[in-house]
Amino acid sequence: MTRTLTILGIESSCDDTAAAVVRGVPDGATILSSVVHGQTALHAGFGGVVPEIAARAHAEKVDIVVEQALNCANLSLDDIDAVAVTAGPGLIGGVLSGVMCAKGISAATGKPLIGVNHLAGHALTPRLTDRVPFPYLMLLVSGGHCQFLLVAGPGDFTRLGGTIDDAPGEAFDKAARLLGLPQPGGPAVQAAAETGNPARFALPRPLLDRPGCDMSFSGLKTALLRTRDACIADKGGLTRQDRADLCASFQRAVADILAEKSRRALDLYLAKTPPHATLAVAGGVAANTEIRAALTTLCAETGTDFNAPPLALCTDNAAMIAYAGLCRFAVGDQDGLALSARPRWPLDTRAAPLLGGGRKGAKA
Ligand code: KG4
Ligand code: ZN
Repeated sequence: MTRTLTILGIESSCDDTAAAVVRGVPDGATILSSVVHGQTALHAGFGGVVPEIAARAHAEKVDIVVEQALNCANLSLDDIDAVAVTAGPGLIGGVLSGVMCAKGISAATGKPLIGVNHLAGHALTPRLTDRVPFPYLMLLVSGGHCQFLLVAGPGDFTRLGGTIDDAPGEAFDKAARLLGLPQPGGPAVQAAAETGNPARFALPRPLLDRPGCDMSFSGLKTALLRTRDACIADKGGLTRQDRADLCASFQRAVADILAEKSRRALDLYLAKTPPHATLAVAGGVAANTEIRAALTTLCAETGTDFNAPPLALCTDNAAMIAYAGLCRFAVGDQDGLALSARPRWPLDTRAAPLLGGGRKGAKA
């Protein structure tokens, strides 16, 4: 039987500085503490995450969140078995801040160091929150990532498809900027769409006419820009209703793309006759009610369970990093102090690389 492990996790790959303590075994772990220090206010004036500002803020805050996470868990560094840290993919300056902090802890205490792939953290979250049995299908949709993963074990990920350009969250953020709505764009677009008519503007569903699970969102953003400009040219400006209709039409297009591509990914997954078929989502965009509703309907139609972790564990956090580290450490895996930070780090190294860089690092 695997012994109970207590793991300190550190996350700093994008715009959240986070630390957490998780205790347990791979088949049943508990979050003892999870502290997230966001940077939204620091980047608000720039229309996106500024890597240099993010890196500096991580370097300033990482020690503090580690201390807070240990205090909240009522533990000291003596009580932990190992320290797990996001080693990529992500903005390199931020990743380095976390990795250097974790190395410092490891060097000072002699505790083992485990480098974790940020995407593995997201992809294993359904195991941490709900012990979802392997294999499950994961749709990871955030501001920096969008991919379908077949998760067959703690280190066994097969990418079935992903975005070839923007991530959906990035597209929501750009849509909000085009329409004069605040950042982060997803919640603002969703709120405006509530009173809008999703059928008023015919926006494209890129790549739906092609087979497979790859997606594209950048053409949708350009189409929104053209539609907005045509509307302004026609009437001399945008009314509140125009804005709501543009948001609703945009949101419906994203939901349609994700639902149709999920249907295809589900077909591939269900063909393997998994005993407990589950589609799980993670990432900030998984908070969108229209997208959730579309995926819930799809799952009901195919007799598949739908799993969506609580929002705080969908978005970036260190509990998922601690848990992914726990899964590696439980089977004797660890890294030495030579651990490197990696801006790009695909989870499925057998899959061909996707196009596009993305503002928040690799869409690996
Ligand atoms: O996972 P996350 O917190 O950070 C990373 O990207 O790593 O995701 C943030 C993204 C932002 O682009 C934000 O606009 C989007 O998630 N988002 C949403 C909603 N809430 C957050 N997108 C659509 N609808 C929402 N309700
Ligand atoms: Zn993330």
